[in-house]
Amino acid sequence: MTKPNIHYADLKDSYLFFGIAQKVKKYSEEHPNEKILRLGIGDVSLPLAETVIAALTQGVKDQAEKSSFHGYMPECGAPFLRATIAEFYRKRGVDISDDEVFVSSGASDELGDILDLFDKENSALVIEPAYPAYVDANVIAGRKIIRFAASYDNGFTPLPDESAAADIIYICSPNNPTGAVFTKEKLKKWVDFANAHGSVILFDAAYEAFIEDDDIPHSIFEIDGAKTCAIEICSLSKTAGFTGTRLGYTVIPKSLSRAGMNFNAMWVRNRTTKTNGVSYIIQKGGAAVFTDQGQKEIKENIAYYKENAKILMQVLDECNIKYTGGKNAPYIWLKCPNGLDSWAFFDLLLERIQVVGTPGEGFGKVGEGFFRFSTFGSREDTVEAAKKLKLLFSKGE
Ligand code: MLT
Repeated sequence: MTKPNIHYADLKDSYLFFGIAQKVKKYSEEHPNEKILRLGIGDVSLPLAETVIAALTQGVKDQAEKSSFHGYMPECGAPFLRATIAEFYRKRGVDISDDEVFVSSGASDELGDILDLFDKENSALVIEPAYPAYVDANVIAGRKIIRFAASYDNGFTPLPDESAAADIIYICSPNNPTGAVFTKEKLKKWVDFANAHGSVILFDAAYEAFIEDDDIPHSIFEIDGAKTCAIEICSLSKTAGFTGTRLGYTVIPKSLSRAGMNFNAMWVRNRTTKTNGVSYIIQKGGAAVFTDQGQKEIKENIAYYKENAKILMQVLDECNIKYTGGKNAPYIWLKCPNGLDSWAFFDLLLERIQVVGTPGEGFGKVGEGFFRFSTFGSREDTVEAAKKLKLLFSKGE
């Protein structure tokens, strides 16, 4: 008889954002006249940049002509996009070659797929609170998970100690959910730790485009020594509004090897077996993001979300509610008022003012007592939510 993967039984009943969507759907069905204000999942509300749309449109036209038609795309990514991304890194002072860049269908897909590179016996260190897919993907694989707590006191960017010794180490900066960012000095400590222990860091850089402080690293490869211990996973979802279009990229340095096996070569082998590449049309649109005009337009969209962040932060400041994030990241991570637990606060906001956020507990037990607002909503929703939050908090609720 078929033996199922028994590790599914170790997962929570539903994935965090799926569970929240179900709760909100039920509330909406029971209260059809209430307008829901969505500050929950980090899904963008602005359309793609004009330059990207023009490139996507050209991609469609190319597919209509025999002379420019593309069938299967190269499994590791179109050469034109790999070269564009590598050049983007080099312009930022990080020396990456084209064949160290792998095009993916998005960071969340890749964060799961990349685990194919690691033995099942490897342990995985998750700095919590954390994006829940890190834990879930390793639970499904039956891997041992070591939870390493970040806290308000260490700015949610802890430094390694011996209890962090693990084979795979997840670091997300700017961080989802706390919005905290690792400085170069702090990241260097993790890089040195990983090299000393023979670990591999999976660096989730999905939110790097939101960094506004000059001294915060956008890439782990800005840190000396990272090329022998890190894989960087990036996404155009939040950078350029591709949540529904799907495109990302991963950097695996050729100098990353363990036990005589090279991770870049292994990933080529994996991709050539497991994918037929990302759609030509989408890659064509993605390349436009890295042009000067594309960068200008995506930065305008990011500025819009940052304005949303300011609107929410102002209310929290006025109501003396402690929070992190909102500056170099599109998430605001706040302490639930009046000592409420995070799901109680979720229910309160939904029922009283129809604002949806994400309970901190969903990002790990250490997230209990905290709550996350996404700044990716529409301006109208954000302004209305801010007004309602202010009224609610000023009543002491
Ligand atoms: C989030 O809200 O944490 C993210 O949008 C989820 C994701 O990127 O998959």
